[in-house]
Amino acid sequence: MTDRLTIRSPDDWHLHLRDGAMLEAVAPYSARQFARAIIMPNLVPPVTSVDAARAYRERIRAAAGPGFEPLMTCYLTDSIDPDELERGHAEGVWVAAKLYPAGATTNSHSGVTDVRYIHAALERMQRIGMVLCVHGEVTDPEIDIFDREAVFLERVLAPVLRDFPDLRIVLEHITTADAAEFVMAAGPNLAATITPQHLHLNRNALFAGGLRPHAYCLPVVKRERHRLAVRAAAVSGSPKFFLGTDSAPHLKEAKESGCGCAGIWNAPFALESYAAVFDEEGALDRLEGFASEHGPRFYRLPLNEGTVTLERAAVTVPERLPAAGSDLVPFHAGETLGWRLAG
Ligand code: DOR
Ligand code: ZN
Repeated sequence: MTDRLTIRSPDDWHLHLRDGAMLEAVAPYSARQFARAIIMPNLVPPVTSVDAARAYRERIRAAAGPGFEPLMTCYLTDSIDPDELERGHAEGVWVAAKLYPAGATTNSHSGVTDVRYIHAALERMQRIGMVLCVHGEVTDPEIDIFDREAVFLERVLAPVLRDFPDLRIVLEHITTADAAEFVMAAGPNLAATITPQHLHLNRNALFAGGLRPHAYCLPVVKRERHRLAVRAAAVSGSPKFFLGTDSAPHLKEAKESGCGCAGIWNAPFALESYAAVFDEEGALDRLEGFASEHGPRFYRLPLNEGTVTLERAAVTVPERLPAAGSDLVPFHAGETLGWRLAG
């Protein structure tokens, strides 16, 4: 039985760090675990200009400390300027751009109302080799919330793949068997990130003994058969699937509310959480590919040189951790995990 696992330093290919006091509080947790992270741009106001992204990157570097590299993304709006995208990419500020369907999730109201409006931007991204990150849910209120990812694949993603065959696309935080199969069947320009919560939770977790706001994120967790399919994809060894936590902090009172915010803050024990899954699946030998190799290869970035070591040991996740004058409730709060990050 493996009791110590040393892997190449991992990266987080989907992370929300927020700004101000929240950024100061949460960034060190990610920096402790990951060498780099793709930073989501859904601030208020969203990060849509090169100058705003550059300034935000400096605030992140200051909050995270040395040894952590924020990889910035541009928030796509209906009126995004392809020249601004190209400039930010050429100047080494933007690694990718994020498509939020307008209204799909937290701070997405400035997002894209119809992909037709950003065709020129996608054309440019395809030409310059800039990655498109996608929140893959339709916003049509007629569509059941548990079906919004599957419907997005057919209505939006398939046409984009057809129209932009050379555009590299990451379907973020996949939650369904439909998405896992879709990504597997597509060509090499489509990959997907997978969060810890979608590997651990099915939709019963939302209602276990009462309403559970800390299990609520978007896309919402799905049926057990979907969780199992997403797990199988994560541990498959396929280079199309890689680590993206979607760690999304909201203060305790904003989660435990009559209209609780979507988002699970998993940054403090993210690697431990993934390790538990790979261990349960008998796939610890594939954790390194998922966490540290598939992502940089897809993004065409160098692999990290350093290593991290996980050891088999009981670690109890705190019920809450202080942040921004209040508390955050971490994913797995009060549970004991079987792996610990050494050092
Ligand atoms: O649960 C989520 N929280 N899903 C998202 O897509 C956004 C995120 C956030 O920013 O809070
Ligand atoms: Zn996200």
